[in-house]
Amino acid sequence: MISVDASKCTHCGRCIADCVVQVIRRTPGGLPSVPEQAERYCMHCQHCLAVCPAGALTCDGHTPDRCIPSGPLPDEAHMMNLIRQRRSIRLYKQENLPPEVMEKLVASLRWIPTGCNDHRLVFTVIDDLAKMEPFRARMLKITRFLIKSGIMRIVYPGYKRFKDSMLGGRDFVFRNAPHMIVVASPKDAPCGRFDASIALTQFDLYAQSLDVGTCWCGFAYYAFALNRGMRSLLQLPPGYKVGAVMLFGHAAVDYPRATDPEPYTVIRP
Ligand SMILES: Cc1cc2nc3c(=O)[nH]c(=O)nc-3n(C[C@H](O)[C@H](O)[C@H](O)COP(=O)(O)O)c2cc1C
Repeated sequence: MISVDASKCTHCGRCIADCVVQVIRRTPGGLPSVPEQAERYCMHCQHCLAVCPAGALTCDGHTPDRCIPSGPLPDEAHMMNLIRQRRSIRLYKQENLPPEVMEKLVASLRWIPTGCNDHRLVFTVIDDLAKMEPFRARMLKITRFLIKSGIMRIVYPGYKRFKDSMLGGRDFVFRNAPHMIVVASPKDAPCGRFDASIALTQFDLYAQSLDVGTCWCGFAYYAFALNRGMRSLLQLPPGYKVGAVMLFGHAAVDYPRATDPEPYTVIRP
């Protein structure tokens, strides 16, 4: 819950005004406080801590000095480059990311926004290319079964062009990526589906700034969602479901220009 350093608080009321669940009240002495009966409504979003100009407020033991002060943001042109130039990478260097880059990527996950500030997302991060092998091996076994049983013909009629390379062991699903991140949410999460997609969208954009290539992996999502053996490799806690999958690593391809995609329909009533 919140505690206030009375020697710093200026009684400006910004924490009260910004509280989304309106649980912060002004005490007769003018200091902000959360009445005990309202504590259960707190979303632990830490807006009160972040908004306080005097750094007077501590939230759930998180002190202002532990929070990184606001710094400059990328300008509009750099943001637009990031949006335009992000490509789905399907050719990867067969090398691990430097550990410090991996740590930066993992550390960034803390700031992913979720519906109701639900911090129960779980990420399975494959941080070493050798650890991708069990995923590839099991996927290949499943692919061969799907082809030989005739199921592939039903679920993916166009597969015939790729049949030989699929049977030969080409990695159509994990694209020989050295790393993978899988996000799972509790089955009862209020916004689990959105949370998972937002999580990896944010991961994706940050990865570009570290020169790390990425690829959303819908094929792997379905493999994990539909096949218990594949899912077991993720070591998820009980009650969790896979929400989204992304491959990542150093790209073995570069693009001298952005694409020129067809615009989506925009309705402005
Ligand atoms: C939800 C989602 C699932 C995707 N699944 C795969 C996949 O399984 N394999 C793959 O190679 N690309 C996959 N992609 C990449 C898309 O094919 C790609 O985003 C699209 O062709 C546009 O190319 P770009 O990302 O380079 O702009 C997926 C993209 C999204 C958003």
